[in-house]
Amino acid sequence: MLRFDYQSASSFLPEGAIDRLRPKAEEAHRTLVEKTGAGNDFLGWRDLLRNPNDALLGDVVSTAEEIREKADVLLCIGIGGSYLGAKAVIQALKPYFPADGATRPAPEILFAGHHMSGAYLRELLAYLEGKSVYVNVISKSGTTLEPALAFRFVRQWLEKTYDDADKRIIVTTDPSKGALNQLHHERGYKKYVIPPDIGGRFSVLTPVGLLPIAVAGIDIRSLFYGAVAQCDALSGVDQNLAIDYALVRNALLEQGYSVELLSVFEPRLFDIGGWWQQLFGESEGKENKGLYPDAVQYSTDLHSLGQYVQQGKRMLLETFLMVENDQGDLSVPDAGGDLDGLAYLAGKSMSMINRKAYEGTAKAHSDGGVPVTTLWLDRITPSTIGECLYFFEHAVGVSGYMLGVNPFDQPGVEAYKKEMFRLLGRP
Ligand code: PA5
Repeated sequence: MLRFDYQSASSFLPEGAIDRLRPKAEEAHRTLVEKTGAGNDFLGWRDLLRNPNDALLGDVVSTAEEIREKADVLLCIGIGGSYLGAKAVIQALKPYFPADGATRPAPEILFAGHHMSGAYLRELLAYLEGKSVYVNVISKSGTTLEPALAFRFVRQWLEKTYDDADKRIIVTTDPSKGALNQLHHERGYKKYVIPPDIGGRFSVLTPVGLLPIAVAGIDIRSLFYGAVAQCDALSGVDQNLAIDYALVRNALLEQGYSVELLSVFEPRLFDIGGWWQQLFGESEGKENKGLYPDAVQYSTDLHSLGQYVQQGKRMLLETFLMVENDQGDLSVPDAGGDLDGLAYLAGKSMSMINRKAYEGTAKAHSDGGVPVTTLWLDRITPSTIGECLYFFEHAVGVSGYMLGVNPFDQPGVEAYKKEMFRLLGRP
């Protein structure tokens, strides 16, 4: 169950601004669900939830079980939408540390192919020595340089190391195009398909995200059906939290608040920030429009960026991503004295302290001129994380249409590639 609180941000808006913009936000929502807007051939991420493919979920679970039995490491090779969602969900739902007494630790999930550091690859290959390694190479186009390069190194290492290398490789790619399809045909690699009507940043609930997430031991059915439930909850305009969120951030943008911070107090959710950043940045940042999305990690970043947020240029709005019910809490121990000056906190729970840190931060930032909103997750479970993912996907669709852009393309990412390939002398 999600809750979106924007009361405090409303005071930064001219009177009536929310009511004035609401019809536009509702129209944008209808454009999304009725598939009448730009990019309407890239809405497969909604169709996927409206017609769940349980057979596919079952297939992913059984592949994951096999990998969990046989692998020490699952190496996921991919960039952007081809790894950020899996990384975020795994961080959110995997215990911080392996459970005591686990007979066989769950495979470690590592990521590669999301940058071009030779040092990283060299150390990675050295780290993999002596371990049982499976590889999931994920690229919708099959032509992206970073994962393609990493896969070239890793494939060579796998073939040198194992007799059954081809069985240890799973490709996740377009139904028919690209180099990975060619390899799949030649080498017989197991393949999962990324539906052509789902863009990378919307693909976390396809095998792109689901396979690594399942290998991490997370219940992908609950994750998926959490998203389905949220898709249902956001199907109409009444009490539609995604409309509210899109509406408030667009209203604030009109007032000159052009940078949005997604501020997270729970380390488990830090990588949801990275996923959100790509989702909003690539969907909205075009035609010289859009809020710049920046994910920050609290209270860590309060000791670095906090100064800027409090007193720097006033262009920031802040959305806190918070959890109502902390699980596995601790109470501050009584130290039998007050040498560290913390006796006043003895017996208090860490979650209460974290909550007060949020409340204090939200108040201070709001007093300092930063409009603040909060998205509340009831607790952190596969189902609520699924809800949260869909909430943001739906909201960015509505928000992008309110801005007047196509939220489902990313023409701007080609520019650097063109220059880079020219410098590399690609034929
Ligand atoms: O969201 C997107 O479309 C991008 O971030 C892509 O996922 C990213 O560029 C990787 O592309 P591909 O999966 O084709 O290798």
